[in-house]
Amino acid sequence: MRALLVCAAAALLFVPGAHGGDLGAQLYGAGCITCHGPEGRGIADRGPSLRGAGARAADFYLRTGYMPLASPHTQPDRSRVLFSQRELAALVAYVASLAPGPRIPTPHPARGNLAEGQEQFTEHCAGCHQIVAEGGYVTNAVAPPLKHAGPVEIAEAVRTGPYLMPRFSAQQITDAQLDSIIRYVIYAKHPDDRGGWALGHLGPVPEGLVTWFVGIVLLVATCLVIGRRLHP
Ligand code: HEC
Ligand code: HEC
Repeated sequence: MRALLVCAAAALLFVPGAHGGDLGAQLYGAGCITCHGPEGRGIADRGPSLRGAGARAADFYLRTGYMPLASPHTQPDRSRVLFSQRELAALVAYVASLAPGPRIPTPHPARGNLAEGQEQFTEHCAGCHQIVAEGGYVTNAVAPPLKHAGPVEIAEAVRTGPYLMPRFSAQQITDAQLDSIIRYVIYAKHPDDRGGWALGHLGPVPEGLVTWFVGIVLLVATCLVIGRRLHP
C-alpha cells in the first residue's frame, strides 16, 4: 500500500507543468478545451469562442460554478466551485490573456440609492427574476434567485448577460444605477418586513389565497353568530 502511494506521488511530480509554469493554461487544457477549443477559439455546437470574453465573463462563470459545464446543451447552473482561489485566478488570467476583453468590475453598492435601485430593478430585471429577486421562469430558461450573488457577480451578470439574460450596456444602465440595483438586490435578501406576514415574498397569489381563507372563516363565523341569534 505504501509503495503504491509513493508511486502515485512520484507520478504526480512528473505530470508536465503540474507545479509552477502556466497553471491557467494547464487547467484550461484539462477542463475547458473540449468545449472551447485550443486557445479559446470555440467549437461549433459545444462551446463559444472565449476570445474577448475577458476576465469579467471568466470570473463570473467560474466564481458561480457555472463552468465547467457538464453538457454543452444545458443551462449553466450555480454549483460548487471545483477550483481553489489560486486556480481560479490562474484560469481567469488565462482566458483574459487570449484577447483583449473587459476587466472585472468594481461596484460600490454603498453609494447606491435603495429607492432608485428598486425602480431600476422593477424596470429591467423583475420581469425575469421576480420583484424580490426570488427567481422565476422565462421561455427555455430558469432565471435563478439572486440571493447567492455577491456585488461583483451581480455587476458581472448585468454587463455580461449570461445565457439567455440580456446584456445591459452602460448606456442602458449607468454605473451609478448599477450600484443602486446591487444595493437593492442585497437588501432584497433580507427585506425588513414591517410587521405582518411576508408569505414567502411571493406576491399576489398566496396573498389572494390567504385573503380567501381568512374571508371564508369570517363568513362562516358570521353565519354561526347570525344563525344563533335567529333561532335561539
Ligand atoms: C430575460 C430575462 C432576464 C432579465 C431581464 C434579467 N435576467 Fe438575470 N438571469 C437570467 C437568466 C436566465 C440567468 C441564468 C443565466 C445562466 O444560467 O447562465 C440570469 C442570471 C443572473 C444572475 C446570476 C445569478 C446566480 O446566482 O446564478 C444575476 C446576479 C442576475 N441574473 C442579475 C440580473 C439583474 C440585476 C437584472 C436586471 C438589470 C437581470 N438579471 C435581468 C434572466 C434574466
Ligand atoms: C461541456 C462543454 C463546456 C465545458 C467543459 C466548459 N464550457 Fe464554458 N461554456 C460552454 C457553453 C455551451 C457556454 C455558453 C453558455 C452561456 O451562454 O451561458 C459556455 C460559456 C462560457 C463562458 C462565457 C463566454 C462569454 O462570452 O460570455 C466562459 C467565460 C466559459 N464558458 C469558460 C469556461 C472555462 C474557463 C471552462 C473550464 C473550466 C469551461 N468554460 C468549460 C460549454 C462548456
